[in-house]
Amino acid sequence: MRTPFIAGNWKMNKTPDEAIAFAREIRYELNNIDGVDIAFCPPFLAIPGVADAVKATKIGVGAQNMYFEENGAYTGEIAPNMLTPFCDYVILGHSERRAYFGETDEGVNKKVKKALEHGLTPIICVGESLEQNEAGETHSFVSGQVRAALAGLSAEQVAGLVIAYEPIWAIGTGKSATSADAGRIIGVTVRGTVAAAFGESAAQKIRIQYGGSVKPDNIAEYMAHPDIDGALVGGAALKPSFVDLVRGAV
Ligand code: 13P
Repeated sequence: MRTPFIAGNWKMNKTPDEAIAFAREIRYELNNIDGVDIAFCPPFLAIPGVADAVKATKIGVGAQNMYFEENGAYTGEIAPNMLTPFCDYVILGHSERRAYFGETDEGVNKKVKKALEHGLTPIICVGESLEQNEAGETHSFVSGQVRAALAGLSAEQVAGLVIAYEPIWAIGTGKSATSADAGRIIGVTVRGTVAAAFGESAAQKIRIQYGGSVKPDNIAEYMAHPDIDGALVGGAALKPSFVDLVRGAV
């Protein structure tokens, strides 16, 4: 009942020209893959060009961040209405933003609310560190991140969101979580927390991705788990073989 969703988080890679060329290279092959939603999340400056390159396809566009104010003296930030002409999605609370740029649960919650006000679909990132994982704190930590990010939303709003469970120790390391572990945390911790706070209907509708060293040769294993609805892909989304990865998801 939930359509799989594969999003490529290009992070700080590709100039605008490179991003447009890459989008043009793979857009039609991706457009021909049925039964899966797809999005490119390029760096801000590449967003208009990439949005134009994919406008005749089913590929959506997402930003990698956004500020929670409408406009004003916030040097270096990007407002929601600057994204809406080009974007369907916005990644919020990625662990790299939490680690390097001081993002807090409270700020992520403000951004989620502001994105929804503007009709953008948030892709909210959660996930534990290696230390937390080894200390057995994954459930309590991730559950807390989910509750904080969704605080004050309605069940209907929550049902339309996307959450990406990305264990920090699996990002860019080649050390992916097993499909069984990722599926259990997504099912029990993430979907379970949504069910407890917003009800079973919202929990069954919300799409929850896995992220962390997803590749063309392991995507099928993740998708085979009934609680995993897709992937947020970093490094493997920068290469033409991203097409094989998306094919492997259906
Ligand atoms: P990698 O796929 O490179 O591990 O990155 C995952 C990620 O952080 C996506 O947001």
